[in-house]
Amino acid sequence: MTHDWTRRGFLGVAGAAAAGAMTATAAAQEAAKPQAGKIKIVAMACSLRAGKSTAASLAMCLEAAKAVKPDAIETELIDLATMSIPAEPAAGVPLKPGQQDDFPALASKLSDPAVRAIIIGTPSYFSNMSSLCKALLERCMVFRKNDFSLGNKVGGVLAIGGSRSGGGQELAIQSVLAALMSQNMLVAGEAKPLCHGGASVWNSGDDFLQDEMNQATIKSLGQRVAEVALLVPAK
Ligand SMILES: Cc1cc2nc3c(=O)[nH]c(=O)nc-3n(C[C@H](O)[C@H](O)[C@H](O)COP(=O)(O)O)c2cc1C
Repeated sequence: MTHDWTRRGFLGVAGAAAAGAMTATAAAQEAAKPQAGKIKIVAMACSLRAGKSTAASLAMCLEAAKAVKPDAIETELIDLATMSIPAEPAAGVPLKPGQQDDFPALASKLSDPAVRAIIIGTPSYFSNMSSLCKALLERCMVFRKNDFSLGNKVGGVLAIGGSRSGGGQELAIQSVLAALMSQNMLVAGEAKPLCHGGASVWNSGDDFLQDEMNQATIKSLGQRVAEVALLVPAK
């Protein structure tokens, strides 16, 4: 069954608790809507630490994406460390009394047809995605149940770890890509001539964004995600 995925329809599914959150964020969401004719690329940082290396890498990635066609692309970076994304509702387990849940508002934003691509950034934690990234992907069950409403959006993945090799970035990338493919999304990796599955970044210290290999993989992912997003017709 296809659900009504308008804001009102979403609220009907998510319930009164979500309605409060939606009202509070409605103005911000209206303001965040892309201008007519532009596509939007959203990146989500899934580190537990706000504004750190994952978010900084995604900012560079989005800059490269926008550079592909500046007049046609808008970008937005969402730092999930500043939000509460409990995993329990994905499995039908109710929130605790008073527990904050920012996912309904986020889901509404992601399902906007203007959002043509989504880039997930995760730190490598024990050679895989962070718990926050996993919680986000589990909550995305609602999109599958809503007739795959993320379908044909482009997905890209960036993973960053403290080790240059053997840190698990590639495993994290593959794990996230598998979840995005479960949403019927189109996945994109690095652009030519790299063409690997995603951006694998080494957090070597404060100046890690100066590292030539880091820059190459981060910018290449942004470029390719934008290239593919521009190929996808509007829904
Ligand atoms: C719980 C935990 C587990 C980690 N496990 C790994 C790992 O397996 N491989 C790795 O390369 N780095 C690992 N790291 C280091 C982080 O991936 C790295 O510092 C990353 O840049 C953190 O992202 P952030 O700066 O956005 O928080 C781990 C860090 C934490 C806190």
